[in-house]
Amino acid sequence: MKHFISVNQLTTDDIFSILELAESYREGNIQKSEQIFAANLFFEPSTRTKMSFVVAQKKLGLEVLDFHAEVSSVQKGESLYDTARTFEAIGANILVVRHQSDDWYNEINANINIPIINGGAGKAEHPTQCMLDLMTIYQEFGSFKDLNIAIAGDIKHSRVAHSNAQALRKLGANVYLSAAPGFEDPALDFPYITIDQAVETCDVVMLLRIQHERHDQSNNQEHYLENFGLTKERESKMLKHAIIMHPAPINRGVEIDSDLVECERSRIFKQMNNGVYVRMAIMTNLLKNWGIIHEDTFEERKVYNIKQFSS
Ligand code: CP
Repeated sequence: MKHFISVNQLTTDDIFSILELAESYREGNIQKSEQIFAANLFFEPSTRTKMSFVVAQKKLGLEVLDFHAEVSSVQKGESLYDTARTFEAIGANILVVRHQSDDWYNEINANINIPIINGGAGKAEHPTQCMLDLMTIYQEFGSFKDLNIAIAGDIKHSRVAHSNAQALRKLGANVYLSAAPGFEDPALDFPYITIDQAVETCDVVMLLRIQHERHDQSNNQEHYLENFGLTKERESKMLKHAIIMHPAPINRGVEIDSDLVECERSRIFKQMNNGVYVRMAIMTNLLKNWGIIHEDTFEERKVYNIKQFSS
């Protein structure tokens, strides 16, 4: 694994190796090193992904180079490639990129010689979100095989749906999609079910917000919750052990009743917590694969364990 761009590049072994390392980080087994620079190049708004990368980078002892597109030379016409190349030139050792283009990666891949992580590509992929979702499901069920998982919402415009459907199928889950008319994606070859069928049959109901920013025209969301969302009545029909997930941000009262966001079945904030550890694992994996860090180097660099400092 050279970069972390698409779930399609991941073997089952890659996925489990990241999940295992993330669990180990969650348990407090953290090593710090010095003077490795991480740059977070976010060209689209983000709260969770960006800030959990920052927390993950700080927990790993990386120096975080922050970037705000709106006050950067992007405003003078600088391209994504030139921005990335600049960060590489000034010493960044790893880049995290979020961009509105579905295939921004092809624009910068060829000549950047440091690892790149996809923090969200248009409506195409959100692989680190996918990994934290996999971690959450695995913690809950201990396996993916034959789980019934519904992804419900604005499938057509959701990078989360695209990454998760493919990765979950690879791991043996039965993936179903549920969408209001016009929100289906013919490019995703998975069976569609109604939200009522989803709640009655699935182990995981994963909700998505309407991605208004990616729509060509405005969509009326009146009665969306009653017709296509997770109401309290529908939640009462879920399987006893079933869980609710959502990548967030949440539009309370639109795709999910506000009272369900923090209900017993909800794993939404657990997902966010897992995001830190899974991102630590992904960055460690890439930095090792590129030879930027390795066990020997860690030892030479006055390695210390966070646990020693927190006790
Ligand atoms: N889930 C997610 O990507 O959230 P942000 O847009 O806040 O990063």
